[in-house]
Amino acid sequence: MANFRWRKILVYLDGLGGAWAGNNYSEATVPEDLQLVSDLLDEIRAGWCVNNSRIYATGLSIDDGFVNTIACAPVGANFAAFAAGSGSFLLQR
Ligand SMILES: *[C@@H]1O[C@H](CO)[C@@H](O)[C@H](O)[C@H]1NC(C)=O
Ligand SMILES: *[C@@H]1O[C@H](CO)[C@@H](O)[C@H](O)[C@H]1NC(C)=O
Repeated sequence: MANFRWRKILVYLDGLGGAWAGNNYSEATVPEDLQLVSDLLDEIRAGWCVNNSRIYATGLSIDDGFVNTIACAPVGANFAAFAAGSGSFLLQR
């Protein structure tokens, strides 16, 4: 069995138009961006061997605002933990 201990998959995304849903200048809605996260998880799991107990999300500023949105949505159950970094905790739109 392969040793996965030190292997990591890092995924960096930009929100549509450079901003995540939730702020007043985003191009996507919160449901659309949450669906993107769900689709991305499916794609990563289909392509790589992933330990589902070690999936994390973090972001900075507006990105972290969306991490907070993920954490409070059903798709958040896919993550082991979230790390907030200077989040701008946005209203859901
Ligand atoms: C977004 O909200 C900020 C803070 O209230 C405001 O300054 C800005 O003009 C708004 N932008 C848009 C595109 O509505
Ligand atoms: C998956 O992660 C959990 C939590 O860290 C760990 O207990 C478990 O051993 C890991 N499984 C594998 C196959 O590495």
